[in-house]
Amino acid sequence: MRNPIIVALDVPETETALQLAAQLAPVVGAFKIGSELFTRAGPEIVARIRATGAAVFLDLKFHDIPNTVARAVAAAVRLDVQMLTIHIGGGLEMMSAAEKAAQETARALGRPAPLVLGVTVLTSLDSNELNEVGVETTVGKQVERLANLAARAGLRGLVCSPLEIATLREFLPAEIQLVTPGIRATNVRSDDQKRTLSAKEALAAGASWLVIGRPICAAENPRAAAETILASLD
Ligand code: C5P
Repeated sequence: MRNPIIVALDVPETETALQLAAQLAPVVGAFKIGSELFTRAGPEIVARIRATGAAVFLDLKFHDIPNTVARAVAAAVRLDVQMLTIHIGGGLEMMSAAEKAAQETARALGRPAPLVLGVTVLTSLDSNELNEVGVETTVGKQVERLANLAARAGLRGLVCSPLEIATLREFLPAEIQLVTPGIRATNVRSDDQKRTLSAKEALAAGASWLVIGRPICAAENPRAAAETILASLD
């Protein structure tokens, strides 16, 4: 991948997504396809975005029994995605099955295995809401617990909030890749992102990849916005 910027194509219309991808592909590393776009546009959207030459991060956050998740991961590998997400809360066996399916399917197709990323605690949840669903600890402690479990299951990457990067880097194996959303220039409104860092700060803290949505896609000139963020990394 060209650089660590992954643009979240959080738009409902296929044409809008394709226009953004065509415009941004020369300057970013990858595009993230989430539930909204995937459900609207169908799996063909992956091939159409791949045709721009950029990598694809399929963010469908699989969470089901191990067999079902393994099969969904295998299907995603056949679509030729380079990164995908699963919920760590699905358990050790589910994660191992997902990683194994990614490796084996990729090997059979003669491609590099995609990065299977574990999702710890959704950034929309606070400690009170965690307690409401029976997880009687803080967000920080739960993130730490789930991150360790993901490493034990053999996952090679995690999604985390920018403010968790530094702590996770203290105890996770160095080769685990960290993908972080919540990137904002320090001088702009933060939309609904509660925990943010600038792109440069997130990389300095130990992030491997940055997921950026609205600061690029909702800008008047998305390509110029992406180029500004890229230049800020030097
Ligand atoms: O906020 P932005 O548009 O840059 O969001 C990029 C990605 O960050 C979204 O696709 C979503 O996956 C994630 N996100 C998050 N927490 C929020 C808002 C968005 O993790 N509060």
